[in-house]
Amino acid sequence: MSDTKRKGAQPQRLAIAIMAAGKGTRLKSKHPKVLHEVGGKPLLGHVVAAATKVVVPKDVYAIIGHEAERVREAVAHTGINFVLQNPQRGTGHALMVAREVLAPYDHVVVLSGDAPLITPETITKLRNFHVRTKAAMTILTSVLPDPTGYGRVIRKSAKSDDVQAIVEQKSATPKQQKIREINSGFYAFAVKPLFAYIDKLSTNNPHAEFYLTDMAAVLGKAKQRVVAIQANDACEILGGNTRAELADIDQRLRMAKCHQLMAEGVTIFYPQSCVIDTDVQVGADTIIEPFVQILGRTRIGSDCRVRSYSVIRDCEIADGVLIRHACVLEGASIDEKAIVGPYSHLRPESHIGVGAHVGNFVETKKIKLGKGSKANHLTYLGDAEIGEGVNIGAGTITCNYDGVHKHKTVIEDGVFVGSDATLVAPVRVGKGAYVSAASCVTEDVPEESLALGRARQINKKGWARQRREARAAKTINPK
Ligand code: UD1
Ligand code: MG
Repeated sequence: MSDTKRKGAQPQRLAIAIMAAGKGTRLKSKHPKVLHEVGGKPLLGHVVAAATKVVVPKDVYAIIGHEAERVREAVAHTGINFVLQNPQRGTGHALMVAREVLAPYDHVVVLSGDAPLITPETITKLRNFHVRTKAAMTILTSVLPDPTGYGRVIRKSAKSDDVQAIVEQKSATPKQQKIREINSGFYAFAVKPLFAYIDKLSTNNPHAEFYLTDMAAVLGKAKQRVVAIQANDACEILGGNTRAELADIDQRLRMAKCHQLMAEGVTIFYPQSCVIDTDVQVGADTIIEPFVQILGRTRIGSDCRVRSYSVIRDCEIADGVLIRHACVLEGASIDEKAIVGPYSHLRPESHIGVGAHVGNFVETKKIKLGKGSKANHLTYLGDAEIGEGVNIGAGTITCNYDGVHKHKTVIEDGVFVGSDATLVAPVRVGKGAYVSAASCVTEDVPEESLALGRARQINKKGWARQRREARAAKTINPK
């Protein structure tokens, strides 16, 4: 039975605050730090995803400041709240500005918007330990082989849960710098003591900022309990403060994603070479060959094969689809058993039907290619509705743009379009019709008819022989 049930008390209200107002000077970037991407998502997006698995979005508060509007926009869809910290005067100040919104809660877990590997399990472990020890402040820590740059945790004694202080790298004595247990930047606080003593923070440090880390010593002096708990996985606390750290975190997320998919039954040959974003879904028995990128919100079904060098972003791919080598697919949907590539470029709103084929050097945009239809070579299909069982010959072009507006081409079921045809939209080719090779079709073609839209061929008999003979005569007698 839980504590609250035993006492018949109200359940303890928990908020999560995510500090995301900093500029990220060490990245040397014009973009805010928490919007830099790892695993295909902004740093902050990962932290928000973990937080909203522990509490509902309305209990999550992101503290934003530097480029606040851009940061807000990037995660607003999650339904969390925002608190403005302007100017940004340090991590302690970030919580000072959130005093009013956090006051109604019993506890607050504080996360760093720049540390995206945190898991819901670790947040829960931190919260549970904090509530069990009845501490005013609980610090999540980790022991790193190289603790340089992080705040060091000074425990009261080696075996004690209790902490005396956190000392930042720049203020640490040589002896303190040898401590390998570091402050992760994740904490749990009891809200009452936090705000009763937070005004005791000072800016008496090398950055002249209010350090949240100093709350350990402040609360200790006020006879409040401060404890620490180690994270299970030291990597979870890694922060992306520099480009090198971002690359390292990105690598970890990609490998973790590959391992998750492999555990779910996906074959990935040479996973080190594949770039798969965190939110991608892939069904069992799909095979992913080396050097493939699968990005954004892409969903791939079961029993598919993605051959090498393809880049797939935000696509819906059904079961049993074959993506041959080196395709670029963006915002497309591909139905069961279709075959795409090699070297196909499917642009947004391309819908490839069941068992349809799109082949070498074919570009599509905003089209529907019906069941079993084929466009296998050197073709552009844009703004087109193509029925079932249609053959699009090599080099066919739908001329969809008149320089001002886009127009639609409709090709009905069973049509055969010969090679090198140009279909000038708006135009409709009726059911079962034939378009002869090299035709320029500017008028609708009735169903079951043949359209011939090219100059009639003439053959000049003997012309080639006469030309050859005339040239030979010139060579013998140049004058
Ligand atoms: C902080 C800790 C350090 C810890 C490390 C772990 C402090 C003083 N130090 O250092 O002990 O080892 O994290 O990664 O807290 N932020 C605001 N408002 C501000 C300043 C920062 O919201 O005024 C945000 C930043 O956007 C960032 C987070 O707080 O997401 C942490 O700030 P950062 O500057 O990265 O602190 P560290 O130097 O990494
Ligand atoms: Mg940091």
